[in-house]
Amino acid sequence: MAADSAYVVAIDGPSGSGKGSLAMKIATRLGFHLLDSGAIYRLLALKSLQQGVDLDQQQAVLEVLDDFNIRFEVGEELSAAFLDDIDVTDELRREETGDAASRVARHAAVREALLGLQRGFFKAPGLVADGRDMGTVVFPDAQFKFFLYASIEIRAERRYKQLISMGLSANIAELLTDIAERDERDQNRSASPLIPAEDALVVDSSLLDSSQVVELVLGHMKDSI
Ligand code: C5P
Repeated sequence: MAADSAYVVAIDGPSGSGKGSLAMKIATRLGFHLLDSGAIYRLLALKSLQQGVDLDQQQAVLEVLDDFNIRFEVGEELSAAFLDDIDVTDELRREETGDAASRVARHAAVREALLGLQRGFFKAPGLVADGRDMGTVVFPDAQFKFFLYASIEIRAERRYKQLISMGLSANIAELLTDIAERDERDQNRSASPLIPAEDALVVDSSLLDSSQVVELVLGHMKDSI
């Protein structure tokens, strides 16, 4: 691969698979830009809720995009998200927001309308993009594609710890139900369902800690980058 080409590293997987923190660490290590595409769906869900829009109505959600001002500030460990210049990072991470995001994300026209915004994150020297359809739809030509998963119990436990560490309340049984429902919605929708790209390396992170996953991914890329 030519040294001057820009790379896309697509990291897809279900909620709680650890892809968000993996993407952030890989981007930091490589000095690449970062796209947290789930945050875009979460921001759209938040704005739709603020406007009292029915999340199941595609046209109404599409109209929210007419005035959709979002911005991210990416740090080494944390990334902050702004909606209309207001920091909504904490609201964004809530389970209810994730749930609302998966409802707006079902609409094919909404997904289509967000393609340009997502692709705009691609800049030299490269981009690490995390989501559900990075390797299949948004960046089908990505040089590196990973699909991260873990058992639902492990994902619920990780999510529990994450929410508690953010000072939010959490309940394992509810998380298990929420994650199962979200998986079902993400995998079975007709528009860009959650499936590994044919050329993705599928990584089961159930028994690996986050640094082992980072090393595995970087190890896989090291001969080409
Ligand atoms: O990754 P995160 O949990 O923040 O995503 C929230 C929701 O947004 C997901 O459950 C999924 O329904 C949706 N999403 C999507 N496509 C993406 C990223 C997220 O449909 N590329």
